[in-house]
Amino acid sequence: MEIRSPQTPSEWELYYDLRYRVLRKPWNQLKGSERDEYEEEAAHFAVFQDLVIIAVGRLDVLNDSVGKVRYMAVEETFQGKNIGKALMEFIMARCEQENLHTIILHAREIAVPFYERLGFRIVEKSHLLFGEIQHYLMEKKKASEN
Ligand SMILES: CC(C)(COP(=O)(O)OP(=O)(O)OC[C@H]1O[C@@H](n2cnc3c(N)ncnc32)[C@H](O)[C@@H]1OP(=O)(O)O)[C@@H](O)C(=O)NCCC(=O)NCCS
Repeated sequence: MEIRSPQTPSEWELYYDLRYRVLRKPWNQLKGSERDEYEEEAAHFAVFQDLVIIAVGRLDVLNDSVGKVRYMAVEETFQGKNIGKALMEFIMARCEQENLHTIILHAREIAVPFYERLGFRIVEKSHLLFGEIQHYLMEKKKASEN
């Protein structure tokens, strides 16, 4: 297992395709809806296994001290095998290196316990995606910042 940014055009295709299939397609969203206007400036992380991407996540640096994790998705057949945890730990270590003291994210209700196990706490209920997926704003601050 290797975690790094996609590099070749075919790796980028696998990267966005996984994001689409896990986070958009089940809600009948169009291809393309899995991307936004911040892709170029964001940091992208993919978990590779045997040349295939099995999990993805994105980190947006909002300012000198705050990072925001977006578009976390693990291939369905690989969910529940600690891959998401490994990817989040990798992204959190990157935040630490970059002195980002606070990490925020909007978690789908179903994923809240996953992030709580990683040390995040709910700040507030946030938006409803596609009219049905309740999200919660969550954050994790560096121990010394609590
Ligand atoms: C949510 C998601 C990213 C978690 O990744 P994962 O690889 O399946 O989770 P892991 O196996 O790494 O789980 C790590 C820990 O969280 C727990 N966990 C994971 N998902 C959970 C859930 N839905 N409810 C309760 N606990 C959960 C695991 O039991 C595990 O606990 P442990 O450390 O005590 O063993 C992944 O399941 C996923 O992509 N789901 C569909 C898309 C989605 O909802 N993405 C998140 C958008 S905010």
